[in-house]
Amino acid sequence: MSTEYLSTEAKLYPVPKRLLDPSLSPTPHINSIEQYKKLYDESIKNPIGFWGKIARETLTWVTPFQTVFSGGFEHGNIAWFLEGRLNAAYNCVDRHAIKNSDKVAIIYEADEPGQDRKITYGELLRDVCRFANVLKAHGVKKGDIVTIYMPMTPEAVVAFLACARLGAVHSVVFAGFSAESLRGRIQDASSKFVITADESRRGGKTINIKNIVDDALKECSTVERVFIFRRTSSEVSIITPRDVWWHEEIEKYRPYCSPEIVNAEDPLFLLYTSGSTGKPKGILHTTAGYLLSAATTFKYVFDYHEGDTFACMADIGWVTGHTYIIYGPLACGGTTILFESTPLYPTPSRYWEVVAKHKITHFYTAPTAIRLLRRFGREHIDCHDLSSLRIIGSVGEPIDPDSWKWYNEVVGRNVCSVIDTYWQTETGSTIISPLPCAISSKPGSATLPFFGIDLAVLDSTTGGEIKTTEAEGVLAIRQPWPSIARTIYNDHNRYFNTYLKPYKGYYFTGDSVTRDRDGYYWIRGRVDDVINVSGHRLSTAEIESALIFHPSVAEAAVIGVPDDLTGQSIQAFVTLKPNCSTDVNDLILQVRKVIGPFAAPKKIYIVSDLPKTRSGKIMRRILRKIICDEIDQLGDLSTLSDPNLINILVDKVNNS
Ligand code: PRX
Repeated sequence: MSTEYLSTEAKLYPVPKRLLDPSLSPTPHINSIEQYKKLYDESIKNPIGFWGKIARETLTWVTPFQTVFSGGFEHGNIAWFLEGRLNAAYNCVDRHAIKNSDKVAIIYEADEPGQDRKITYGELLRDVCRFANVLKAHGVKKGDIVTIYMPMTPEAVVAFLACARLGAVHSVVFAGFSAESLRGRIQDASSKFVITADESRRGGKTINIKNIVDDALKECSTVERVFIFRRTSSEVSIITPRDVWWHEEIEKYRPYCSPEIVNAEDPLFLLYTSGSTGKPKGILHTTAGYLLSAATTFKYVFDYHEGDTFACMADIGWVTGHTYIIYGPLACGGTTILFESTPLYPTPSRYWEVVAKHKITHFYTAPTAIRLLRRFGREHIDCHDLSSLRIIGSVGEPIDPDSWKWYNEVVGRNVCSVIDTYWQTETGSTIISPLPCAISSKPGSATLPFFGIDLAVLDSTTGGEIKTTEAEGVLAIRQPWPSIARTIYNDHNRYFNTYLKPYKGYYFTGDSVTRDRDGYYWIRGRVDDVINVSGHRLSTAEIESALIFHPSVAEAAVIGVPDDLTGQSIQAFVTLKPNCSTDVNDLILQVRKVIGPFAAPKKIYIVSDLPKTRSGKIMRRILRKIICDEIDQLGDLSTLSDPNLINILVDKVNNS
């Protein structure tokens, strides 16, 4: 989706009156722009006082911290809540189970409608403890990296929290990734343990994920044990003694396991994400800071109150699922929906049936899903009772104003707050978003920064800060906040070079931005080689290397092209080796195999040559202009080695 459309002259949408009426809605945590500004200013001027107080109030500590914050962007040595000791699973489960063990923690909405299940905090505590004991018995200990490759089932949440209970570090790999991608992540982390399932179910389809794991593990000598949750009960291959069944193992252990108390800065998880190069980065988040920001943004950005039912429709394999299906809601003692299916299964009404059935108060999804459902028409929505909804959110990619307005009118019926939340795997939690009862919205703008997020707009050429209110440049952040990623696993240099070195003293987001005259932020998209397809983050280099891996391919150039449904789509140009032939479908299959089905290019053009500079660098910008039918705006071509190629490529694209 092109972000050119984002005119900052948008209409202001005030907070819906219903949300401020105490007879209709809970009393908001923050109910006016003045209250937001006061707290925001305090959080920036006195981060130590601000976060120290919130950290004491929000988390349960075994040993209190003395130092709120130390280090900084200059040296990349950020640390929060030093001396503090705690356990994340205790904070997400035990303390709520002790208070009210019957409170529902998870509502599992299984792929097949009607197969939903509720798990209380008391049950969750027992399940987490039992499985933690299983892990422990098989040798998992503090600091070990455990790879989780699981469908969206409550057992996946149990797996996350069982790791956290032992102080082990989970590395969750989205179960749509291929065997090769899974292998790369297991190898990079030298993970000794994998938790998976026999099969997964999604949208009525069954996928044998155990086979994918077996395939991945062919070259993973570090893996000692694979724990298999039985999701569908079909026959799968078992390799002894490596593979053990979840349901058999848990029978052996008691449902209590004391939590391992860790230091605030001990890692909680790794999550691999795409960067500008072909190699995914293992983003590392630490225990206290991450958990605090997850809980604090959950409370304020979603204005969470006791009794609410929160539905984040992301997958647990992405950061959105980590923070707003699991850690944020559970740290606050909330009720979270775990949705295993798709928006279209069995019909395009599925989301709204779920909202009505469970009386969901918060609904959080990606613009791609909104655009998709919009195409199916409002008749699938209007027939459902959505009156329980109070706050509806969007995440992962820019939302175009038309889709925003449709979401507001058709799903929100003009009485819900629509929050466009901007953040990244690296930020750990939302950093720009309206507070739903305090900040007026503008469709297409994520509006204003969250507490403690000190934004700067930088001139990308000079690196200088643009101090005027109205500004256009790259988005950077002046001071650390608790959930900023601390490093890239085993590659701190890459962390430093990617985020902290480009603009000294700042965290660089990689996004371009406009700040309008009201100080509202409008995210324009990535300035690096990262593309965003349906909210999935991919690097062009990663897809190019998947293509080049094909025996017939000589060179590949991948570009992100605006797409009405998926935001951006992947298109590729490839040249073949001499005397080699292949077809486009085979190349698409190649990418599915190496990365996963969600990375499949929408179009691939097999061409005789790629446009290059005289020094041999591929000029992707030319390819992008050709695809977008903007050949009158090709720009400076003086470095192009073969100008005749342009017409050949234009013909190829037009005739494909
Ligand atoms: O380009 C921004 C885009 O998604 C990138 C981060 O992707 P990922 O780490 O996968 O995390 C996605 C879920 C938090 C950002 O650099 N992005 C995310 N949210 C928005 C967005 N772009 C515009 N508006 C958003 N609300």
